[in-house]
Amino acid sequence: MSPTAAGSYAPPAAVLCGLAGWVPSRVVTNEHLARRLDTDDAWIRTRTGIRRRHVVDPGQSTSDLAVEAGRRALAAGTGRVDAVVVATTTPDHSCPATAPAVAARLGLTGAAAFDISAVCTGFVYGLASAAGLIAAGVAERVLLIGADTYSTIVDPLDRANAIIFGDGAGAVVLRAGHPDEPGAVGHFDLGSDGAHEDLITVAAGGSRQRSRPGEPSRQDRHFAMRGKEVYRHAVTRMAASACAALSRAGWKIDDVDHFVPHQANLRILHSVADDLGLPRARCVTHVESVGNTGAASIPLALADAAARQALRPGDRLLLTAFGGGLTWGSCLLTWPTLPAPARLYDQPPHPYDEPAHPYDQGERTTS
Ligand code: COA
Repeated sequence: MSPTAAGSYAPPAAVLCGLAGWVPSRVVTNEHLARRLDTDDAWIRTRTGIRRRHVVDPGQSTSDLAVEAGRRALAAGTGRVDAVVVATTTPDHSCPATAPAVAARLGLTGAAAFDISAVCTGFVYGLASAAGLIAAGVAERVLLIGADTYSTIVDPLDRANAIIFGDGAGAVVLRAGHPDEPGAVGHFDLGSDGAHEDLITVAAGGSRQRSRPGEPSRQDRHFAMRGKEVYRHAVTRMAASACAALSRAGWKIDDVDHFVPHQANLRILHSVADDLGLPRARCVTHVESVGNTGAASIPLALADAAARQALRPGDRLLLTAFGGGLTWGSCLLTWPTLPAPARLYDQPPHPYDEPAHPYDQGERTTS
């Protein structure tokens, strides 16, 4: 417990003490996509800002990426971890959760372990959950991983979505500390609006579809998104959530050195920054290189910015996410002194081997 100005005791805050990202080395460029879809590099770049994305190899799953990112975040010698939380929309299985397997592979058997399902807002929901575990005294240290393999649920022939999403994982370690110290995450704003659940869906695989007779259609097995409506909601919900978190903290928009939004697409990020009255130069972007990586996007953007030394101790950050559900969330933190994250991949990036790679071929042969 931490002493407050009034002499009473506040619960401990969750303080960031480790950070890492990891993406599979296999790269899909816009030019690769244009070879098999009716699209082109200029269309993709002007609509989304994305130039390339990374995808898993055959047999690789979300937990494989989560373990790589988690191992790197723990490598900084952050000490014992009592809880492992994995935010994902693409768990290894619908049952059980992915987090216990990730914990076991990281040598953390015995730690509490559970998944968070809040689509692209999962990492911010995860930060709030980790802060809650620490404030309640349930955990001293939490490993939070955002990991997704959208290439396993997006129809490779769906040009509207195949251009947007990529695979990756980002991880942070949070320890109990004082609410006023650098790295303390706080002043959360979280929200949802399930009336719009149909805007972002994978229709098949859950109890609703399974309780119906018959096999799901190809369309129902894949990720679906109503892009234009999602775009509008993303901009308004992210701006409103950012304002709510700032107001709770008593920060003005000018106090924000870095806005780290969920990397949905560059136009959305810039629109939100414009609506907030924030110079676009303060918007941390990584979407050009990895696409929308779902729950991994904010920690991956942080790891990339930290590796480029774009974040300095004492800088003030606003994190804001939006995703299916609909869900949204924001939180604030002052950047701590952290060991520089390692590179985001072990091998130099290399293209997938058309047409042998299942991302390109598999679904076509089975439909
Ligand atoms: N290449 C070329 N043309 C494409 C295309 C592609 N990859 N994808 C769609 N099109 C076509 C459409 O078929 C449509 O053609 P039509 O006018 O003949 O029907 C046309 O381009 C315009 O489609 P539209 O959906 O209106 O484009 P858009 O300007 O809204 O851009 C998105 C599409 C998906 C890029 C945009 O809606 C978007 O960014 N949405 C938010 C998605 C997102 O970031 N989601 C994550 C939130 S967590």
